[in-house]
Order: sequence, then structure tokens, then C-alpha cells
Amino acid sequence: MKRRCKQTVRVSPVAERDVERLAGLAREIWYLHYPGIITVRQIDYMLAQRYQPAVIASQIKTNGAWWDKIDVGSQLAGFAGYEPGFEARSVKLDKLYVHPRAQGYGFGRVLLTHVEARSRERGYSKLYLQVNKGNAGSIAFYQLAGFEITDKVNVDIGHGYFMDDFVMSKQLGDSTR
Ligand SMILES: CC(C)(COP(=O)(O)OP(=O)(O)OC[C@H]1O[C@@H](n2cnc3c(N)ncnc32)[C@H](O)[C@@H]1OP(=O)(O)O)[C@@H](O)C(=O)NCCC(=O)NCCS
Repeated sequence: MKRRCKQTVRVSPVAERDVERLAGLAREIWYLHYPGIITVRQIDYMLAQRYQPAVIASQIKTNGAWWDKIDVGSQLAGFAGYEPGFEARSVKLDKLYVHPRAQGYGFGRVLLTHVEARSRERGYSKLYLQVNKGNAGSIAFYQLAGFEITDKVNVDIGHGYFMDDFVMSKQLGDSTR
């Protein structure tokens, strides 16, 4: 059954002042969610690659990736990171995370709907993502949101680690771009 929340929910762009807090939230979520899907050593490695505050701050500054956050009351509950994709008019949803304490209230869907709307506004017509093949709950979440598995990849990310992922895609409909 869906959980209910009476607090104010707000999605907004991540600002440089949010970056340390966001990196901390990412660490918490990853260490709670990914053991059993990937090793703790791979979690350490991927966090160091992707969630250094300086890396996030630079992406925000240069518009290299778009980052949005969801606040519930005064608490940072989740975030999304997305960027222009490999194919023309496509956006790669690189990160979508809600803290386990806040899961099941519809916040993941709110963030995803926001990402879709912002991508359409920017003129893109397709959203795609990679998700670990063992990340069954998230695959179900994306399928419910209209994504289909369109490919699989096994990406060598260095130091003997791989991302053994499904690619999932969704058409966003008409755009002006
Ligand atoms: C995937 C994730 C973002 C979903 O966020 P959430 O806030 O819990 O999801 P919502 O409450 O918005 O759920 C939306 C719908 O998906 C369904 N859903 C969510 N998680 C699910 C799960 N684990 N298994 C099956 N269905 C799920 C909900 O039941 C709901 O269905 P409904 O519309 O029929 O009511 C969140 O669980 C998460 O951060 N997971 C860990 C990190 C992760 O794997 N991120 C994706 C990396 S690619």
C-alpha cells in the first residue's frame, strides 16, 4: 500500500551550497541499497568516481549535467542527475535516488516526472538509463513508469569492476527541438 506524507514536497535544482549534503545522502543510500547487488568495494569505488562534491559542483557550474533534488519538509530526500545522451535528442538519466526512509511515498515518481518534463522542455524526445540487472525493485519502478528494457551492457569501469546493466528507454513524445 502506498505510504502517505503530509509534509511539503518540493523539487528544485541542486545549488552549489547543497552539494556536500547531497554527496552525504548519496553515500547513505548507496551503502543501504547496493550491498547484495554489487560488492562494498565496488560501492566505495563508484562513490569516489561519481559523488565527489567537487565533481558535482563542476557539473552544476558548467551545465555538464543537470541535477535536481527533492525536499520533504526540511529534509533532503532524494535527487536526480541527467545529461544529454549519446543519441540525438536523447537524455541519459544517470542518477535517480530516494532515501530508503522516504521510499514508497511517490517521491521517486515525482522526481522522474520532473526529469521527463524538464527534458521535454529542453527539446529532447527520449529518456534512457542503465540499471544493474540485479536491481529488481528499481527495474519494476521504471517499468511501471513506462520504460522498456531495450539493451544490455557490461561496462568496464576500471580496477576490475564492471556495470552489468540493462538499458531501459522511454519515448517522451513530441518536442520542438
Ligand atoms: C527506485 C526508486 C527511485 C523509487 O522511488 P520511490 O519513491 O520508492 O518510488 P515511488 O514511491 O514513487 O513508486 C512509484 C511506483 O513504483 C512502484 N515501486 C517503487 N519501488 C518499487 C519496488 N522496489 N518494487 C516494485 N515496485 C516499486 C511503487 O509501488 C509505485 O507504484 P504505483 O504507481 O503503482 O503506486 C527508489 O526506490 C530508490 O532510490 N531505490 C534505490 C536506488 C536505485 O536503485 N535507484 C535507481 C538506480 S538506476
